[in-house]
Amino acid sequence: MSTTTSSNLNLKTAPGHEVLAKAGKTVLRPGGLEATRQLLDWADFQPGETVLELAASFGKSDIGLARRYGVRVVGIERNPDSVRIARENIRQAGLEGQVEVREGNILNLADISETFDYVFAEAILTMQSASGKAKILEGIQKVLKPQGKFLSHEMLGLGDGKMRDHALSEVIRVNAQPLSSAEWQQACEKAGLTIKQSKTGEVGLLSPKRVIEDEGLLPALKIAWNVLTQAEIRQRVLQMKDTFTQYQYQLGYIALCASKVGINYGCHYHPS
Ligand SMILES: C[S@@+](CC[C@H](N)C(=O)[O-])C[C@H]1O[C@@H](n2cnc3c(N)ncnc32)[C@H](O)[C@@H]1O
Repeated sequence: MSTTTSSNLNLKTAPGHEVLAKAGKTVLRPGGLEATRQLLDWADFQPGETVLELAASFGKSDIGLARRYGVRVVGIERNPDSVRIARENIRQAGLEGQVEVREGNILNLADISETFDYVFAEAILTMQSASGKAKILEGIQKVLKPQGKFLSHEMLGLGDGKMRDHALSEVIRVNAQPLSSAEWQQACEKAGLTIKQSKTGEVGLLSPKRVIEDEGLLPALKIAWNVLTQAEIRQRVLQMKDTFTQYQYQLGYIALCASKVGINYGCHYHPS
């Protein structure tokens, strides 16, 4: 599975997730696989059902969902390099016809004519403005089948975010506007989506423990070696890590499962 982005990436100005991908990270989400697994649990995917993934990146999640659950997946990704890599990964996985990654902007979901049983979105709404979040959530409500489920994993913002969001945007070089649980709920409800289940936790994106959990020991050692030996990557990764540490009490992850308002249909719930 290839995840290497273009060789002429400007490591000084590139978005944080592209620098992490260059270091070898494939899980580019605030709550890592812990939050992703929660979404998969709530989903209860059935073979043949359809999934729309927003911000599909290199297609890793799409391929994983198709292989594990037999679902048909359409991914939307804006970065042409990532789309090219995703398509090659899908071809190598022999999943053409079951998985498709389209080059597109998730701000234009209204242009999609199909409807889906699930919309799956990780680490993409946080980097949108308030109006961008609203437009995407409206688009999600439109492409969801009546009994459909929206599964989302984003950054959680606690307390006053003015300084925090500015510092985050500085180091990850994308607009970062995490919301509180109540604000994510309001944004969903405004778009006609009701949150049925939610879970929050720590952002451990760059903690060695989480990197090993998410990537595996050997890939984690390779990432550490890349950070140690490549000065520009090291500088960016340390800047991101320092900022996550500085604001660790004002940041978290949120995983949520929502359905259309008025639809009495739950997210799969495993009483622990
Ligand atoms: C932080 S990564 C998350 C990727 C993936 N969802 C994951 O969890 O690994 C964000 C991805 O969103 C893509 N992206 C950002 N804005 C987008 C937009 N407006 N439309 C489609 N893709 C977008 C970026 O190119 C990048 O691949």
